[in-house]
Amino acid sequence: MTYRIAQIRRVSSHPEVYEPCDDSFALVDALLADRTNLLEHHPALCMEVGCGSGYVITSLALILGQEAQGIHYLATDINPHAVRVTQETLEAHGLHAELINTDIASGLEKSLAGMVDVMVVNPPYVPTPEDEVGRDGIMSSWAGGENGRSVINKILPIADNLLSDKGWLYMVTLTANNPTQVCLQMRELGFASRIVVQRSTEEESLHVIKFWRDIDIQAEAKETVTMNKTGPSRVMESLLSQFPRLPLWRNGNNNQ
Ligand SMILES: C[S@@+](CC[C@H](N)C(=O)[O-])C[C@H]1O[C@@H](n2cnc3c(N)ncnc32)[C@H](O)[C@@H]1O
Repeated sequence: MTYRIAQIRRVSSHPEVYEPCDDSFALVDALLADRTNLLEHHPALCMEVGCGSGYVITSLALILGQEAQGIHYLATDINPHAVRVTQETLEAHGLHAELINTDIASGLEKSLAGMVDVMVVNPPYVPTPEDEVGRDGIMSSWAGGENGRSVINKILPIADNLLSDKGWLYMVTLTANNPTQVCLQMRELGFASRIVVQRSTEEESLHVIKFWRDIDIQAEAKETVTMNKTGPSRVMESLLSQFPRLPLWRNGNNNQ
């Protein structure tokens, strides 16, 4: 069965706004692949950080569609042009979302704490010089600083704060971002993870990772100080098994 997603011809554009690309499509494919779970999840508030053209938040609203009534949608972007373009894209599909021009979720931390049931993020992840991060316009779409992780590292604790107890985060990462480390960072915050979609080209490998709070991991995170040696290596093993292409995996498993 096919489900409606945003139609490219109805997605608005602007020279300073990121056009839907392979990473946007991978994120929407991940949401489509997880549609049944998303419907059973009964989210009340869905949020996108870095909405760009609006292709992803529009697709999410269409994927959840008629069957999920009363869901509120919220999207932020640091680029004011992106907020306007997202508004046009939503309107072209007969949809509405609250749109805010802000840095990640600045100004929303208190009002949204523990409220977001689904968060989607296709962050600026390209490794660049640090001084390119957060610049005006289109450059903010890709400039990710050292290892492409500057914005990602800021988003993770904010996601932890905003996500509800049942909250899910879907995030795009690149091999260069060291997704294993991203998962470990989230694990320290009490989140489990799995790859929903993986796309590889000759140059790079994109992952869409889903994170959710895990009671056992939360308990384990609290005991980190007293954890014996088998704990962390077991955690590494399970994470590394998800990312067979990572250099970290090759370094740590010379006999394989
Ligand atoms: C790779 S683009 C993704 C756009 C869209 N979500 C998509 O998938 O097509 C990253 C988006 O994040 C926005 N962005 C970058 N840094 C941000 C920040 N600190 N806070 C909010 N949005 C940010 C950019 O302006 C850009 O629109």
